[in-house]
Amino acid sequence: MTPRSKAVLVLLACLASVMCVIHPIRQSDGKGATDYGPRNSIIDAINIEQFIPPATDSGKFPNLKYSFSYSHMRLQNGGWTREITIKDLPTSASLAGVNMRLKAGGIRELHWHREAEWGYVLYGTCRITAVDTEGRNFIDDTGVGDIWYFPSGIPHSIQGLGPDGCEFALIFDDGNFSEDSTFLVADWINRTPPEILSKNFGFEDGAFRNISKEELYIFQGEVPGPISEEEIKSPKGRVKSPYSHRMLAQEPIKTKMGTARITDSKNFEVSKTIAAALVEVYPNGLRELHWHPDADEWTYIITGRGRLTVFAAEGKARTYGLSAGDVAYIPKSMGHYIENTGQDTMTFLEVFKSKEFSDISLNQWLALTPKNLVRAHTQLSKQNIDKLNKDKVPVV
Ligand SMILES: *[C@@H]1O[C@H](CO)[C@@H](O)[C@H](O)[C@H]1NC(C)=O
Ligand SMILES: *[C@@H]1O[C@H](CO)[C@@H](O)[C@H](O)[C@H]1NC(C)=O
Repeated sequence: MTPRSKAVLVLLACLASVMCVIHPIRQSDGKGATDYGPRNSIIDAINIEQFIPPATDSGKFPNLKYSFSYSHMRLQNGGWTREITIKDLPTSASLAGVNMRLKAGGIRELHWHREAEWGYVLYGTCRITAVDTEGRNFIDDTGVGDIWYFPSGIPHSIQGLGPDGCEFALIFDDGNFSEDSTFLVADWINRTPPEILSKNFGFEDGAFRNISKEELYIFQGEVPGPISEEEIKSPKGRVKSPYSHRMLAQEPIKTKMGTARITDSKNFEVSKTIAAALVEVYPNGLRELHWHPDADEWTYIITGRGRLTVFAAEGKARTYGLSAGDVAYIPKSMGHYIENTGQDTMTFLEVFKSKEFSDISLNQWLALTPKNLVRAHTQLSKQNIDKLNKDKVPVV
């Protein structure tokens, strides 16, 4: 039985109020000792990779993992939201994330922000709208596995459609981003003298008198009609390249143990600052040892569970357990893998602040390096050196 399966059994036992028997003792070398508490046995069991780290872990590390389950929920009429920013995960300098739910008709208020926004639909369907600097507009209905990208400063909205709204993940290209500090349309109108508003729009005095004095942020609206009825035809037409893309519908790179879909500015032109991969790893599969040479990685687990080890040079490595809803932040160039340790397919997003996706495979690197050189470093047998993959295999 793997340590992870054992931990799951212990967790079930804990939940059934039976004595928790898991102790920080490593089987392979007997190191560690019993732990009689105080302790939170449920968290210990979920975090088994940190509670009983493998013997290969070494050195001091900044925290690289956070779970949306630890985030503060902002509850609104029409939906909820929670975020993980640099305040929660201090290593995450270049990217921040949000998890949001809108009920059918629920509206994320018309707004904009300094950062670019990349969204992935996890559940249901939502309608997105935007207008660009040339006065061209955009409207689309997005479903599970679709993504959107709103460039920095572009005003937009999101609304849950029938029958049950939507849920999505958002990634922003700055760790300092906060979903609470966006530019909201009603907030601006409330902060502008009424006579200026009338002059600006050519309205009679008090035209905005009924506007909500509270920020709307997320609020309940009516489920809109079809796009064909709702769309405003702009004299300047539609935006030059669409702000949405069907990521899950892309033909994946298929391997025996999983799939990978890569979306960046090469196949989703507008997405100039965010590149991403949607990866599926089947049970026992492994997202191979690799690193990303040009950007930090925001890893977001959508389904399943697994473990991640990050190698940070200078003999330092640390292992983390990952479950659905967890985020891992892997600094640029640090070597890592993700292993599926559960019974189900593990699905996750790798998101980068970058124009194009790029990674280096340890296996491919060694395969394409003279054999004598590889042998001198690794003492591998000739047969094993011949087995190295000259082609990249993202999931093995
Ligand atoms: C985030 O904001 C803080 C406070 O404004 C600032 O000191 C810090 O440099 C910012 N970090 C990044 C990565 O921009
Ligand atoms: C504003 O609210 C008042 C009172 O409910 C209502 O009589 C009026 O028609 C509203 N104005 C607009 C423009 O909807």
